[in-house]
Amino acid sequence: MKSTLKTAIAIHKASTSKIDKVDFDNLAFGSTFTDHMLVCDYKNGAWESPTIVPYGPLSLDPSAKIFHYGQSIFEGMKAYKDNNNDIFLFRPSDNHKRLNISASRMSMPEFPEEYFLEGLKALLKLEEKWIPQTDGSAMYIRPFMFASGEGFHASPADAYKFLICLAPSGAYFSGKVKVRIEETYSRSANGGVGFAKTGGNYAGQFHPTQLAKQKGYSQVIWTDDNTHENIEEAGAMNIFIRIGDTLVTAPTSDRILDGITRRSVLKIAETEGIKTEIRNITVTEVVEAAKKGTLKEMFGAGTAAVISPIATFGFRESDYDLPELENSYATMLKKRITDIQYNRTEDNFGWRVKL
Ligand code: PLP
Ligand code: COI
Repeated sequence: MKSTLKTAIAIHKASTSKIDKVDFDNLAFGSTFTDHMLVCDYKNGAWESPTIVPYGPLSLDPSAKIFHYGQSIFEGMKAYKDNNNDIFLFRPSDNHKRLNISASRMSMPEFPEEYFLEGLKALLKLEEKWIPQTDGSAMYIRPFMFASGEGFHASPADAYKFLICLAPSGAYFSGKVKVRIEETYSRSANGGVGFAKTGGNYAGQFHPTQLAKQKGYSQVIWTDDNTHENIEEAGAMNIFIRIGDTLVTAPTSDRILDGITRRSVLKIAETEGIKTEIRNITVTEVVEAAKKGTLKEMFGAGTAAVISPIATFGFRESDYDLPELENSYATMLKKRITDIQYNRTEDNFGWRVKL
């Protein structure tokens, strides 16, 4: 990645590092943070220059609109380190594009691509030692933007903050993934904000997900808000269903997040000669396939979750176990995608970006 920024990003270094306190062999997901973060302010109709500062608390006015009206968006990305200590990003421009799609839906200012990519690059270079090399771990990257502008008037703020924080992370799920197909609550609606990566989409899921957790499930699978018949996506990942040898996933819409992993899975499956279908898939079809034995696999796909096979799904009062296959698509697709991400194979798609 060559620098296109006119002025270098100012770096204010932390006086001490926390790195020696970190157990890199036992990283949880998203709970350890590096020494620095990138911050950029939007004021008077323009973004100021991004700066890198020590990681730490922010000071905000209690009337900042993020607290009242929830103008907040985020992205999820990862940086990978190979055996030669080279560092790679995966389709970073796609995350930038999606950030701005979310920004536009939430009446927030778009963030310039060069600030996003150059800022991220400078931050990762500074925190290079923090990028884990242990199998299954990576540097989880959280770019986010929120309304820092003040006032109780229910209208878009006039000031925003964009930040990037880094969290060396292990797997998102521990153990087998058991999901519950939801038909009471909805995650999103036609004309709503489901396709945007905005905080409220996640807050609204917590209560139904907690109810599912009380019943022993780890995630909810959302169905469409209108009929609750069509399978849409899960809390933090898109869903793939293998019936026979065909891999099916729901079409993206204004209710579903257009996942970058989903897009990559579809492309890899196509090049591997796997038949894929992007179409509505009903709960009835999945339950009947499970009963007939033609339901072979279900898995989630997302940056944090990578490819997460689903062991069991629950619908109404019944649980359906998925078989453990030798020739699993999930295993193959996970290997293909992570081999590209960790620079273990050729990248014929042009997705990997070396730092
Ligand atoms: N769906 C939701 C609701 C998500 O939060 C995520 C995670 O980012 C995904 C799908 C998967 O998207 P991606 O593959 O771009 O990470
Ligand atoms: C990601 O996969 O990056 C996500 O944003 C999921 C997150 C809600 C943990």
